Amino acid sequence: MKKIVAITLTTASLMAGSLIQDAKNVGLTPIPSSQTQLLKLIDNPKNPITKAKVKLGEKLYMDPRLSRSGLISCNTCHNLMEGGDDGVGPSTGHMWRHNPHHLNAPTVYNAVFFGSQFWDGRAKDLEAQAQGPTLAHPEMAATKQHIVDVVTSMPEYVKEFKKAYGENVKITFSKITDTIANFERILVTPAPYDAFLNGYKEALTPKQKKGLKTFIQIGCASCHNGVALGGEMNVINVAATYKYMNVGDFKGNKNGMVKVPTLRNITQTAPYFHNGMIWNLKDAIKEMGRIQLGMKVSDKQAESIKDFFGSLTGKKPYLRMPMLPASTSKTPKPNLN
Ligand code: HEC
Ligand code: HEC
Repeated sequence: MKKIVAITLTTASLMAGSLIQDAKNVGLTPIPSSQTQLLKLIDNPKNPITKAKVKLGEKLYMDPRLSRSGLISCNTCHNLMEGGDDGVGPSTGHMWRHNPHHLNAPTVYNAVFFGSQFWDGRAKDLEAQAQGPTLAHPEMAATKQHIVDVVTSMPEYVKEFKKAYGENVKITFSKITDTIANFERILVTPAPYDAFLNGYKEALTPKQKKGLKTFIQIGCASCHNGVALGGEMNVINVAATYKYMNVGDFKGNKNGMVKVPTLRNITQTAPYFHNGMIWNLKDAIKEMGRIQLGMKVSDKQAESIKDFFGSLTGKKPYLRMPMLPASTSKTPKPNLN
């Protein structure tokens, strides 16, 4: 856990140049503007990003036939047309079942930057993560065999796997989930905030700059830092207990640590907190101040931080609606039970 430090800003630091420096000093890091540098950050040497994999991964991400019911795709709960999440409190999957721990679906946008995946950090990367939801009963409720059968039943998918991995590819469950993860690696959303930290001093409005200052000054960046403004494990209930802690049984990992959610696109990812119990962003900011920093964040400060959060809404990668291959007589039939 990083030590919580209160940063006192000097008059000089109120100018944009030093605000950039102050931000960097507390570990806030922009998405690099150079494509080569960005690629280094998002690539996985064990599953290198290629056009063919990304294109196929996108289709698999969108294909509800991977689920038992034939109705639920990754995109059902991580909707890329909005914030990369589902906008409901407890995530809801197969047969309308809620997540058994009342967990809210986090966004997949920028998840590539996280040190670990899931609220308790139990998966180390996107490749490891993608295996979970397909099989989880309250989510897609499929089996490994079902998923392999669905994909191999459609010649177009088989052809695309060959194109992505070579003629002799063996289409296994992990090959399929690795391909989905490959697609997720490109889901990064550069925002005005990045342009600012990369040196364009006018990329933020005066109000947003003020909000960033407040965010740094009161100590929010002690946990929300790095490229994702989150993504690492940290403690909750530092100074007081989260007021909805008793909704669901989630208590973090075995050491009580919780994955700090990213603040990128935060204006698009309500409801907030692990159990999705807070809908209003200002309330979430105030609750953070109370439980994590032991301070009362005033209405004015919360408003100002919210202004800053507006600068974290990024440009989503351009996606063209992919056309999925038609089912064949071999494609497993949907099972609604
Ligand atoms: C029924 C809704 C649902 C479906 C379908 C679903 N997810 Fe999720 N996803 C969740 C929930 C809920 C969590 C958090 C669960 C936890 O922490 O235990 C999550 C977590 C994640 C995370 C981790 C993000 C983070 O901040 O830690 C990623 C990445 C992700 N899902 C990708 C996927 C992919 C890829 C698929 C399709 C193969 C998928 N999800 C299908 C609900 C869903
Ligand atoms: C000690 C570490 C720490 C500090 C300091 C901290 N946070 Fe958080 N923040 C977290 C963790 C951990 C969560 C997830 C809590 C949960 O869901 O149970 C979180 C969640 C959030 C969320 C909800 C995100 C979502 O998608 O659900 C927002 C918004 C937020 N923090 C903003 C802030 C602001 C603003 C400050 C400063 C006032 C701040 N945080 C200070 C660790 C911290």
